[in-house]
Amino acid sequence: GKILVLHGPNLNLLGTREPETYGRTTLAEINDNLTDLAHNDGIKLTHFQSNGESELIERIQRAIGENVQFIIINPAAYTHTSIALRDALAATGIPFIEVHLSNIFARESFRQKSYFSDLARGVICGLGAKGYELALEYALAALSGGSS
Ligand code: DQA
Repeated sequence: GKILVLHGPNLNLLGTREPETYGRTTLAEINDNLTDLAHNDGIKLTHFQSNGESELIERIQRAIGENVQFIIINPAAYTHTSIALRDALAATGIPFIEVHLSNIFARESFRQKSYFSDLARGVICGLGAKGYELALEYALAALSGGSS
């Protein structure tokens, strides 16, 4: 795949998980929509969700050998805790966009620190499922020589 979309812990519960914070769109709906949008541009997109840090790290490491050119990642709670996931992304050197459904800056203070944002090409938060679409729009433009 050329674009890899990664979802961290508890995002498998989207749709029913605290919908007032995370919306009613399911993860399957998000993934299907992104897959369609990428395919419309002739770009292959793969997605992966895990509740485990090691699985996410191993998926990122595999991306190097797969010629992945862009990563869109919502690290979920690992955003605020995982130096190991940060290091995995740094090791790949693959450009990535950090996405959060909720506005992490309008929530508890422990959510306002991200281990990813300074390495990210950009960060989108607070726009719900639309944020993934906007990130993909950027990545697709970047891959076609637009704005990368
Ligand atoms: C989240 C925000 C995180 O603080 C939280 O732990 C999540 C989801 C979001 O998409 O808004 O699981 O990344």
